[in-house]
Amino acid sequence: MAKFSYLLNIVLIGFIGVMGYKFVYDGNVATSTEERTAVVLTSAEKAGVLAEMRGLLETVQAVIVAATSDDIAAIPDLVTPYGMIAVQNESVQLAAKLPIEVKTMGYDAHRAMDTLAEMANNGATGNEILATLGDAMVLCTTCHASYRFVAEEEILN
Ligand code: HEC
Repeated sequence: MAKFSYLLNIVLIGFIGVMGYKFVYDGNVATSTEERTAVVLTSAEKAGVLAEMRGLLETVQAVIVAATSDDIAAIPDLVTPYGMIAVQNESVQLAAKLPIEVKTMGYDAHRAMDTLAEMANNGATGNEILATLGDAMVLCTTCHASYRFVAEEEILN
């Protein structure tokens, strides 16, 4: 019986050692699985969409600054280029490649920019602008969590 528990201890200590090793050294970096849906575009389309995204982020940053420094009057000019007017410049080929959910969230994001312009023109406070912006940014984070863009050239290579 004593021999048995001695053996059992060795097994347990070994097990704890292996688990400890996995915990300390492996972390969680090696096993990342990509679960976002890849939307396949040409590399030019991908570059164009990503440039628009960077512009959106700059706009969001500028709107936060304007809303928090009582410069509401600056907001319409900041957001209007990213309103529904931006959709009119989008090519039909690109639109056809975007899944309906991406198109819908994209349009909603553009519409939100027009809403911010309207609010600013109608005397909204900085806090009201920020609250609407915060709600609209759920579109950014939801879309980013589910989709990514891949250039067809990257797939062929
Ligand atoms: C309809 C979907 C969708 C919406 C809405 C959206 N994005 Fe994106 N965005 C994407 C995708 C897809 C990527 C590429 C991610 C990838 O390939 O890993 C991206 C990439 C970006 C990037 C990185 C650009 C680069 O150069 O790599 C920024 C910055 C960004 N988005 C900002 C925003 C902001 C800010 C908003 C909201 C105001 C927003 N996006 C709304 C889909 C969206």
